[in-house]
Amino acid sequence: MRLKSTVVIGAVLGCLSFSSAFAQEEPQSARQAQMKVVGQSMKELGAIAKGEKPYDGAAVKAALEGVSTSMKAFPDQFPAGTETGMETEAAPAIWEKTDDFRAKSDKLAAEADTLLASVPADQAGVGAAMKALGATCGDCHETYRLKR
Ligand code: HEC
Repeated sequence: MRLKSTVVIGAVLGCLSFSSAFAQEEPQSARQAQMKVVGQSMKELGAIAKGEKPYDGAAVKAALEGVSTSMKAFPDQFPAGTETGMETEAAPAIWEKTDDFRAKSDKLAAEADTLLASVPADQAGVGAAMKALGATCGDCHETYRLKR
């Protein structure tokens, strides 16, 4: 018995140290991971809009939530000192025009929240949602993401 509970405690401690390592993630990789979620969510919506995947309300909602949650956290991942490193594609303009950058980020989050308030109910609706969300990507990348 005693041996068993030691193993369990060890496993729990292992999990704790894993999650704290995650919390101390570098801002560069946190923001890249958030953008990956946004990209992945858009792919998911795109597949439904194109009819490559059948309409699935739960999947649409999950994708929109992914965009909303990521974009709410995204603009906080640019503290001073993270202008370079970890192959970041963040452009210097982010630290020069912080308010505009944040506004563009908030715009995408707000767009996702609007769609979440009334989740698109069919393929055509998902197509329209894609357009609304997709209009914001290039608008921000053009100024704030380095081309590599
Ligand atoms: C507010 C600005 C902003 C908006 C809006 C935005 N992005 Fe980005 N995106 C960035 C920045 C900045 C980076 C580079 C982050 C880095 O490397 O540190 C990036 C990187 C990415 C990446 C690469 C992630 C990686 O490192 O693998 C993808 C994919 C991406 N964006 C997709 C999208 C899509 C799709 C949309 C629209 C639905 C979008 N983004 C909207 C600013 C934005």
